[in-house]
Amino acid sequence: MTVTRSVIRGCGSHLPSRLVTNEELAKTVDTTDEWITSRTGIKQRYLVGDDELTSDLAFGAANAALEQAGMTPDDIDLIVLATTSADETFPATATTLQARLGMDHGFAFDIQAVCSGFVYALSTADSFLATGKAKAALVVGAESFSKLLDWDDRGTCVLFGDGAGAVVLEAQPGEGTNADRGIIATKLHSDGRLHDALYVDGGPSSTQTTGKVRMKGKEVFRHAVENLASVVREVLDEAGMTMDDIDWLVPHQANKRILDATARRLNFDPDKIVVTVDRHANTSAASVPLALAEAVGDGRIQPGHLVLMEAMGGGFTWGACLARW
Ligand code: UT7
Repeated sequence: MTVTRSVIRGCGSHLPSRLVTNEELAKTVDTTDEWITSRTGIKQRYLVGDDELTSDLAFGAANAALEQAGMTPDDIDLIVLATTSADETFPATATTLQARLGMDHGFAFDIQAVCSGFVYALSTADSFLATGKAKAALVVGAESFSKLLDWDDRGTCVLFGDGAGAVVLEAQPGEGTNADRGIIATKLHSDGRLHDALYVDGGPSSTQTTGKVRMKGKEVFRHAVENLASVVREVLDEAGMTMDDIDWLVPHQANKRILDATARRLNFDPDKIVVTVDRHANTSAASVPLALAEAVGDGRIQPGHLVLMEAMGGGFTWGACLARW
């Protein structure tokens, strides 16, 4: 029996136009470029303006991904959009994107898994395609995360940025050159007991406000390295592969020190890690597809390459996805 594979047809990204360097931030926040750089590797971030919405970023990334795929919105019948910073409490930002793309067919919904959102969205879309419930999916990670920041909390506000990235997945028969193309394996986890380490102190049913990000940084850091290394091993085991098979690791971009520590645990060559945290900061659900789009755009990721994506975020949630480009 021929299996169905979710083949990645294209990817794209969109960043807001306002670039804010560490030096600029240090004019209004009690911090320094030296502290931010040495603790996180972040040098700058892009932030949305007052009138720029998460759906605007998602729309830019979706169009770029469709163009690279050589497809149009007519070809898409599923949109899965990962975000923590939806335009509105409802409806889903995915349906706003659907309307902006001029689609009057298919179905669209949001996924909320904070920084792991894109990996959750990829895994979800892959399941719809594998079971024949959709033919082609736009999978988007889009965030205006800066709108959730407490600018008086220097321990969090310097860490995050805004942006969006997207990929187009198409269901194709897994035979011939397609036999091992597309998404090979995914693994997702969550542990709600760790809520207090990273959360937003508001919401429709608790405070009727949006709330601001609260984080116990050291606790998140420790769990991130542990959980990311173990979920990577799980997804590789499921596929019968090892780190030696991986061409590119595309991790969630929270902190350069987390990327380095995870790579050391996995005994992985740091030159094969796609790093954007220095320029984008932590863009939550957008960070993995932003990094993917950069590495595909500059020719590092080539057809046939084995790409491993991983992420961890509030919840806690974490997961990994292995794909053949
Ligand atoms: O996507 C998942 C989400 N988040 C993460 O992955 C974040 C994981 N955690 C981290 O990346 C790190 O824990 C941080 C970068 C957030 C913090 O680094 P740290 O080495 O754990 O620093 P710390 O929180 O222990 O703070 C050390 C010092 C403190 O001063 P004292 O108490 O030692 O005098 C802080 O007040 O650094 C101070 N500090 C700052 N100083 C200048 C905290 N934030 C800043 C700042 N500028 N922005």
